[in-house]
Amino acid sequence: MSCSTEAHEPAPRPAAAATCSAPVVSNQPDTHEALLEVVDKHARSHYSRPVSAHQRACFARLDQRVREHGGPVILDSGCGVGESTVAIADCFPDHLVIGIDKSATRIDQALKRAPTSRAMIARGDCIDIWRLAAAAHWPVTHHYLLYPNPWPKAKHLKRRWHGHPVFPALIRLGGRLELRTNWLIYAREFELAVSRFDLATTPAATLAPGTALTPFERKYRASGHPLYRLTCDLPAATRTLTGDRG
Ligand SMILES: C[S@@+](CC[C@H](N)C(=O)[O-])C[C@H]1O[C@@H](n2cnc3c(N)ncnc32)[C@H](O)[C@@H]1O
Repeated sequence: MSCSTEAHEPAPRPAAAATCSAPVVSNQPDTHEALLEVVDKHARSHYSRPVSAHQRACFARLDQRVREHGGPVILDSGCGVGESTVAIADCFPDHLVIGIDKSATRIDQALKRAPTSRAMIARGDCIDIWRLAAAAHWPVTHHYLLYPNPWPKAKHLKRRWHGHPVFPALIRLGGRLELRTNWLIYAREFELAVSRFDLATTPAATLAPGTALTPFERKYRASGHPLYRLTCDLPAATRTLTGDRG
């Protein structure tokens, strides 16, 4: 299992039984033809979807904890059952690690995983929490996006993180972003989307064999899927769109 950089190798955790999973099937042969247009449009506009009182309350609890901690923060967005959140906290003893997922069922399981004082689990919607956290300038040093839902149908481009209007907020959060996916087109689109902010990712590379960091990683490995990983160092205040400087 590798949390990210080569320097951090947490002890393997007991593996839950892995079920099989079908490979991603898409009607897209390659990156989406409208990708750059969509990313640029989102980069130029202000995403104004109102944040619900529930999400604000969730953020306020997290924000209080971030302030109490007073040190570096790691996000595990779409943390599922929180296995990665706890493993990442083991890797980074000085950081507060926040796992966020919108699924009540998965968060219930994550909470049973006995979060430590530095691994906090929250049921929240990244679409709201990211915007609030970016505005609050959380000191995010690492951000994990581990196997986000691929939304492989072409018509669902805007549901993928890089095609969603919240993507500029994800960029503004900063930190070393790590994406893992079992769909190469998702990784390639992500690379292209990041490039529109004058930033570069590492090229999407095949994830080396090793102990799984998450249940989905375990399931995909057991099913023989190739897995892809890319990283990107995001400066905290990057807002410039390629070709859009005043
Ligand atoms: C494919 S699962 C991967 C879970 C985990 N990272 C893993 O690898 O085992 C994707 C997760 O993202 C969560 N998710 C999707 N959209 C979300 C959102 N807007 N906010 C928070 N979580 C979200 C889902 O609930 C789900 O648990």
